Amino acid sequence: MSKTIIISNRLPLQISIENDHLEVTPSVGGLATGLKSFHKDGDSVWIGWPGLTEEEIPEKLKGEVQKKAKDENCVAVNLSSDEIDGFYYGFSNRTVWPLFHYFMEYTEADDTYWKFYKQVNQKYADEILKYYEEGDVIWVHDYQLLLVPNMVREKAPEAVIGFFNHIPFPSYEVFRTLPWRDEVLEGVLGADLIGFHTYDYERHFLSSVSRILRYQVDFNEITLPDRIVKVDSFPMGIDYKKFEQAALDHFKNTEDQQSELQRRLNHHLESTPDAKLILSIDRLDYTKGIALRIRAFEYFLDKYPEFIEKVRLVMLAVPSRSNVPQYRRLKREVDELVGRINGKFSTVSWTPIWYFYRSMPFENLIDLYTSCGIALLTPIRDGMNLVAKEYIATRTNHTGVLILSEMAGAAHEMNEALIINPNNFEQVAQALCTAFGMPEEEQIQRNKMLQKRLRRYSVEKWANDFMKALHATRENRDAFKSIRITQKISEEIMEQFKRSKKRILFIDYDGTLVNFTDKPENAKPDDELKELIRDLNSQENTDVVLISGRDKNTLGSWWQDIPIELISEHGVWTRQIDGEWELSENVKSEWMDAVRPVIENFVDRTPGTFIEEKNYSLAWHYRKADPELGEIRANELSNTLKELISNRGLSVLEGNKVLEIKSSGVNKGKACNKKLVGEDYDFIFAIGDDWTDEYMFRELPETSYTVKVGIKKTSARYYVESTSKVRDLLNSFKESL
Ligand code: ADP
Ligand code: G6P
Repeated sequence: MSKTIIISNRLPLQISIENDHLEVTPSVGGLATGLKSFHKDGDSVWIGWPGLTEEEIPEKLKGEVQKKAKDENCVAVNLSSDEIDGFYYGFSNRTVWPLFHYFMEYTEADDTYWKFYKQVNQKYADEILKYYEEGDVIWVHDYQLLLVPNMVREKAPEAVIGFFNHIPFPSYEVFRTLPWRDEVLEGVLGADLIGFHTYDYERHFLSSVSRILRYQVDFNEITLPDRIVKVDSFPMGIDYKKFEQAALDHFKNTEDQQSELQRRLNHHLESTPDAKLILSIDRLDYTKGIALRIRAFEYFLDKYPEFIEKVRLVMLAVPSRSNVPQYRRLKREVDELVGRINGKFSTVSWTPIWYFYRSMPFENLIDLYTSCGIALLTPIRDGMNLVAKEYIATRTNHTGVLILSEMAGAAHEMNEALIINPNNFEQVAQALCTAFGMPEEEQIQRNKMLQKRLRRYSVEKWANDFMKALHATRENRDAFKSIRITQKISEEIMEQFKRSKKRILFIDYDGTLVNFTDKPENAKPDDELKELIRDLNSQENTDVVLISGRDKNTLGSWWQDIPIELISEHGVWTRQIDGEWELSENVKSEWMDAVRPVIENFVDRTPGTFIEEKNYSLAWHYRKADPELGEIRANELSNTLKELISNRGLSVLEGNKVLEIKSSGVNKGKACNKKLVGEDYDFIFAIGDDWTDEYMFRELPETSYTVKVGIKKTSARYYVESTSKVRDLLNSFKESL
């Protein structure tokens, strides 16, 4: 039976050594806590790092580490301390983490880190391939493993691979500063489906792909030369029932069943009338805005001294990545701030901040969630923030106020919380006042709405939605209308070619015989190509027609010495074998003077675009423009032109990064069919890559072999992935006679 292979850097279990024995504790962090329940319920194996370096595990305990992992359907990946330094503390947490959270000043670009990142990503990919069997689904997680999808794809091209990024994806302007940006994007694009928590991260990613790699992006689909990659947002939920049930159980505890922490919390609440606890829980990470939060709390106490002795900030910071200097510095800063503020405001019976720097068992987390009437979560940037969702899920009597930073991914779905900008102390202080004064009915009303949503969009639903979308990419692949030309199909076509008596091949030029270049004049045919076409055409009973949108002068000069038929400007001109050009249609050019200024206006406003002037048509090229602006302007120009040219017998053709205006009666389909009149070809072949070639595919007889270059929607019967595959195919024609 097929299974799901989950891969993340950290396993959901954390192994440590206490007195020569292995201890297993749950890992902290949104990814591990969230995905755990999906893993527990399904048929999956989870590959990841158990938290100890190879050197830290004594030889005699190595087998036991694997066994502990295996007990929970996990596979422990061994990483040496050098690998952990370069890959984990290095590239993952000193380069990608700060950059993706917009902390550019913390971002280090170090070649050695990058080397280790590649090495360890390859190690993870190899580990996946050990467990992968045909039909399995591979789900790669997070920023530590950005290269894994493509590394797996290279070895298992048919695999179904999903990737989910649990942290923000920054805007193009920030991402572009990464020296290895191309490799990173190509790495992720090995996946069939790429998921983000929010639409903003999704569009930042798409924009980087389109601007940096220049792949075609249509809405949320990226067209690669050989595949289509889907990108979508799936906001991660929590195991709602688990938190709700834990809170319900918690309230059933008798006094002597309560934890020490719970007793201390109770003591505070009972000792002061109107007392309130404000909760804050995070890993000790500079993205979480912990220092800013303490300062905002100071601002609040300064401004509203009436809350002194009434409120207490209960702050839980979980140790994290303490080998990275910024985390160590932050630890010092937070220690100092807590000390200073406690010194400034404490009274004999009260300290304003209770600060815990440690991990806590699940029961204590529930004590905190259920006892604190306010949760103050103010990250500067956060991919999602599951703590916010967990807090709401444990409020089983529906009271409690959540104050949440608008910079957290969770803020998009939690509108009923008090949403604040963490840099605005006045706003934070106001939100605290609002929270204290909020009538219970209002709290209940807000929380009920939040709870309804969180219950519905649980982590289970999140994982299922992602999986469903991932499976759909496989179905799409299968349902792709045209058929890839495999070796076998190519042989069948060649057999037909050989057997037939009279053959014709219609071949498009740009994007089919040669790749696109930034300047159209740079796409000259090379000698090998010229020879290939000459040889093909010189075969007995075989006509080769190059059919292009190019102007006749360029096409004519490039193919001057090759005696083949040329059709230029989509069918306006035909050059016979003897070299004579004929105007094929009754086309006109007077309209050009009226249309040219309109296009010129778009050229002026859209850097990187230009007009190509042909004898009977005008083309506006936008390949070199900013891809997003280019698409917007192309749409605008197309609409403007359609209005302008109505009733003039003209049409606008939308090609590959080009708009062309020409006489309506002219297209490649009509031009091909004209060639067939009165002839008895029994083998017709047409190949092309863009929209203008679709006219040939649609209008040629059904028995024709029509072939699209690249994976795009098409009326052609077959497709090949690239221009080099086109040449292979043409060489086969040459060799088969
Ligand atoms: P991040 O993924 O950046 O760490 P999240 O808020 O998304 O932030 O996830 C944090 C997860 O870690 C939550 O599921 C929370 O329950 C868990 N967690 C936070 N603090 C502790 C702690 N002290 N002990 C155990 N688990 C914790
Ligand atoms: C965030 C990341 C996770 C990571 C977790 C804990 O949630 O998205 O990938 O596992 O933080 O960080 P750590 O470095 O301890 O794994």
